[in-house]
Amino acid sequence: MSDTSPASPWPTVPLGRTGLTIPPLGIGTWAWGDRFYWGFGRGYGEDDLQAAFEAALDAGITFFDTAEVYGLGRSERFLARFAAASSHPRARDLFIATKFFPYPWRWRQAALPRALRGSLRRLGREQVDLYQIHWPWPPRPVEVWVTALAQVLRQGRARAGGVSNYNLDQMRRAQAVLEHHGFPLASNQVEFSLLRREIEVNGLLQAAQEQGITILAYSPLAMGILTGKYTPEHPPRGPRGRRFPPAYLERLRPLLHLMEEIGQAHGGKTPAQVALNWVLAKGAVPLAGAKNAAQVRSNVGALGWRLSADEVAALDKASEPVQLGGLFG
Ligand SMILES: NC(=O)c1ccc[n+]([C@@H]2O[C@H](COP(=O)([O-])OP(=O)(O)OC[C@H]3O[C@@H](n4cnc5c(N)ncnc54)[C@H](OP(=O)(O)O)[C@@H]3O)[C@@H](O)[C@H]2O)c1
Repeated sequence: MSDTSPASPWPTVPLGRTGLTIPPLGIGTWAWGDRFYWGFGRGYGEDDLQAAFEAALDAGITFFDTAEVYGLGRSERFLARFAAASSHPRARDLFIATKFFPYPWRWRQAALPRALRGSLRRLGREQVDLYQIHWPWPPRPVEVWVTALAQVLRQGRARAGGVSNYNLDQMRRAQAVLEHHGFPLASNQVEFSLLRREIEVNGLLQAAQEQGITILAYSPLAMGILTGKYTPEHPPRGPRGRRFPPAYLERLRPLLHLMEEIGQAHGGKTPAQVALNWVLAKGAVPLAGAKNAAQVRSNVGALGWRLSADEVAALDKASEPVQLGGLFG
């Protein structure tokens, strides 16, 4: 971060054992240009996203999570365009995380540095702050891509290296390869919310914390469901509607009711803010997706206060009967 940028109101947190620090909350940009899943161009557009970007900087949040696949490159391009057009001093101090997608036709290790060059070109940067391997999917083993990740770290094309959607075994293997090359594994980005608590039970969260690997929590609002704005009468449209059908939304009512009550006890915090604060209470960094400035401002309202241990325990209990499977099963 430069000396000229105004100090953020939010204390930063360490990014694993990299020596780098990040804001305690990141802005997710999957929806930035994605037509298929999020309906970009229907109900929100580029102006809304630019306003979301500016609202994040105004609120002291400079951490954006993107990927080469989001909006087929549009998300990375938007970030570059908004940063270039912004007069906000914090626009010079962004922390950008992007991701390599291990398409099955990407066979050779050289595919990763080549993909990173594409991301850097779209982002208009010479270096990305965090480069993540998006999925551990075959055909190539984890070791192939993590070795390539070490190479781009050595070349200074990325300041830190992370993985995403890696299970405990895969995360340990990734860590071993990076450490062999002299780098820490910065982070594992996984789905983590009140509706998806698998990492609390399968040992991943604890192992990451013991090893100093930051858990970046994606879909911390369960794709908007934990805001409470979707109901059995008004379910989300499109692919989200299939993942969260009315019968499931009906079963969420007691949890959402509790979230509202707890939010009221904290001076009128919303269910979305309670959902994000729950992720913070678990020691993870939420990546909250936003389509407009109002959503960014609302989500930043999850910072600066803390759920009590009793409230976290009550939310844990109420969320047990409504646990989801993953997006990909
Ligand atoms: N590594 C991976 O495989 C992976 C997978 C998924 C996501 N991610 C990352 O994690 C980020 C966040 O996850 P996500 O976008 O899936 O879901 P999310 O953060 O749980 O939900 C985001 C959506 O909720 C709604 N929303 C957000 N804030 C709101 C507010 N304050 N009030 C009302 N509605 C609000 C918006 O959609 P509507 O307005 O349409 O409801 C928004 O697009 C992504 O953008 C991406 O960066 C990574």
